[in-house]
Amino acid sequence: MSSAKAKETRTPRLNELFDDLSATLKDFIRKHHVTYEEYHRTLAFLTEAGEKGEIPLLLDVFLEVTVDDVDHSGRPGTATTVEGPYYVAGAPELKSPCVLPHRANEPGDVLIFSGTVRGTDGAALGGAVVDFWQADAEGRYSHFNIATAEAPFNLRAKVASDHHGHYEMQTWVPSAYEIPKSGPTGMLIKALGGHPWRPAHLHVRVTHPGFAPLTTQVFLKDDPWIDSDVVGAVKQSLIMGMTRHDSAAELKKRGLSKPFFTLDYDFVLPHDMAKAA
Ligand SMILES: [Fe+2]
Repeated sequence: MSSAKAKETRTPRLNELFDDLSATLKDFIRKHHVTYEEYHRTLAFLTEAGEKGEIPLLLDVFLEVTVDDVDHSGRPGTATTVEGPYYVAGAPELKSPCVLPHRANEPGDVLIFSGTVRGTDGAALGGAVVDFWQADAEGRYSHFNIATAEAPFNLRAKVASDHHGHYEMQTWVPSAYEIPKSGPTGMLIKALGGHPWRPAHLHVRVTHPGFAPLTTQVFLKDDPWIDSDVVGAVKQSLIMGMTRHDSAAELKKRGLSKPFFTLDYDFVLPHDMAKAA
């Protein structure tokens, strides 16, 4: 490669980050006097994590929350939190109000999840897309621990808000769940004296042209794991209570045969300053 070409393809940011990471890890080894046995155990752990497809899980559990804190520091609007490893692109596109893809015998209680998408200036954002995913009432995600053939995009959809910025989707109340605990990530958490539970939550990525995308989660109040999420992703402003409905009139209006829950949450997106510049 010519020197001109080499100069063109240099990536100062990569050099800066890698040099500091390398120096930090070398200092760590010296500080803790890491032995050859510990070095080989670390290699074996990372190799196993790679072979079992757990690198995304490992990084999401231990590091993503800090990246979210740093990269979204000072951002106005709804609080962000981590995406986690269970997002799947290409969910069906539905218009509000809608019923999410589900199984005929979908377990648990119906949840009507609704609210308004607005900009930080208060303007309602019609046509905003709420890309939604969640675990089912047994703590399982489609495409991961529910077979895709059994239920493709189960409880997943991209829901467009109406011209008032309002969205409404019928889903099912999610359960708290354990992250995979039989592999290297789970073993490490156990060895550290932790637990593998995540409190019940709903995931969203909310987008609208001209606004910065919002990735966050809405957590269910009173969940037993709300104060000790293994990922550390809970923020107070993202915790919401559900309302139970059991009157005959409400059930009839919804076409439901047993009590259901509602949860309202408004999402506020900041303007995309990068695009405005
Ligand atoms: Fe999740």
